[in-house]
Amino acid sequence: RLAEIGVTGLAVMGRNLARNFARHGHRVAIHNRTYAKTQSLIDDHGDDGTFVPSESMADFVASLERPRRVLIMVKAGAGTDAVIEELIPLLEEGDIVIDAGNAHFPDTIRRENYLKEKGLHFVGTGVSGGEEGALNGPSIMPGGSRESYESLGPLLENISAKVDDTPCCTYVGPDGAGHFVKMVHNGIEYADMQLIAEAYDLIRQGTGKSAAEIADIFRSWNEGDLESFLIEITAEVLAHVDAETGQALVDVILDQAEQKGTGRWTVQNALDLGVPITGIAEATFARALSGGVPQREAARGVLPAHTADWAIDDGDAFVEDVRQALYASKVVAYSQGFDQIAAASAEFGWDIDRGAMARIWRGGCIIRARFLNRITEAYERTPDLALLIADPYFTEAISAALPAWRRVVVAAAEHGIPTPAFSSSLAYYDGVRADRLPAALIQGQRDFFGAHTYRRVDKPGTFHTEWSLDRSETQISGGEA
Ligand code: 6PG
Repeated sequence: RLAEIGVTGLAVMGRNLARNFARHGHRVAIHNRTYAKTQSLIDDHGDDGTFVPSESMADFVASLERPRRVLIMVKAGAGTDAVIEELIPLLEEGDIVIDAGNAHFPDTIRRENYLKEKGLHFVGTGVSGGEEGALNGPSIMPGGSRESYESLGPLLENISAKVDDTPCCTYVGPDGAGHFVKMVHNGIEYADMQLIAEAYDLIRQGTGKSAAEIADIFRSWNEGDLESFLIEITAEVLAHVDAETGQALVDVILDQAEQKGTGRWTVQNALDLGVPITGIAEATFARALSGGVPQREAARGVLPAHTADWAIDDGDAFVEDVRQALYASKVVAYSQGFDQIAAASAEFGWDIDRGAMARIWRGGCIIRARFLNRITEAYERTPDLALLIADPYFTEAISAALPAWRRVVVAAAEHGIPTPAFSSSLAYYDGVRADRLPAALIQGQRDFFGAHTYRRVDKPGTFHTEWSLDRSETQISGGEA
């Protein structure tokens, strides 16, 4: 019998996805550039289910039922293109090629177009949840054609995480939509991680509590609104003691955060679309700042702080303030990410259902969290919701947290603790809710030095002031409403 799905690229992610398919009773064809990896999968986990191993790509493709479903799990970039080129002559019309790596969505759009010309379906899909998720149930975000989802979707839904019996997998939208949503997922992941790191830093510096004590705080936070995978693992990391030094591991890890690029892509795309995702951007820049060794060396011990000693009277109240500030900032970061999804969906004609995205992020993925239910509900109430934080549930929740949020940002500024994500999220909140913004002055300045024109609040049209002449105003265009 032929295999229902094939996986090529058997590094840990591909291997675990293949095992997951097998454990769900699917016959899985497996292939790897070097056969040793294929063999070791059979040796170590052959009893997970039915694997059909092949040494050559041709045999691998021949071992699949039609339409063939070939999942590529290789390092994103040139490697993906190379595998696609190898597959093309072996495939037939209607076959489906799936790229489950962290590809950049413009590459996915290009590949989908290219394969469509050849009569093949190309599905760029986000897969989140790391190694553990790939094996036991990831969150899956497939793009590509609807037609391909009909044949592929049921298999992907089978192996995905489930929350309340609902699979954490759904059709996202055409061509690059799946990889786009995965990219924003990762951007939100960066913001979430940075916010948690800021909360930890504030509590540590503000109250002098140890890493282990703060681990307990995060454990208790994980019982409430903040319940999420990232809060849970934060407690684990903070509680861990380094075997060599006996110190908290977090105190011996070098404080320079790295990244593989999805956060950077998210910010680059947000700039292209003109969507303010300040939480994600600050989180990405905070990683860059931490890794800016020459600048940090030049500043250390040289730049003055002018801060007063920090004496907190009521440590528990401060911790509660930080918890509320974290929740509010987190909601803002998600709201911004969903704005970016809406903007891209309109730009590329993807028609992405944001409520469904929040639903498939409830389980399996790195940003899985209790409050995603609330986001789904908000978009179900108002599918074309312009601003997530303007949904009554979130408006109420942020309103309750607002005094604490302001206190925390003030305290951080006064005591010289960097909280770029907390602070910028609050600035965004105050900016987006403002009646009038100083953008009016910016328009005046632009008109002054470049005759860039401005619009007025009291009548339609565009105007220019003759700044270097008599400062009279001329109407440049428009006029009739
Ligand atoms: C996931 C993760 C994963 C990501 C890593 C590392 O959803 O499973 O987002 O895809 O690649 O978390 O990302 P950075 O190296 O950029 O931090």
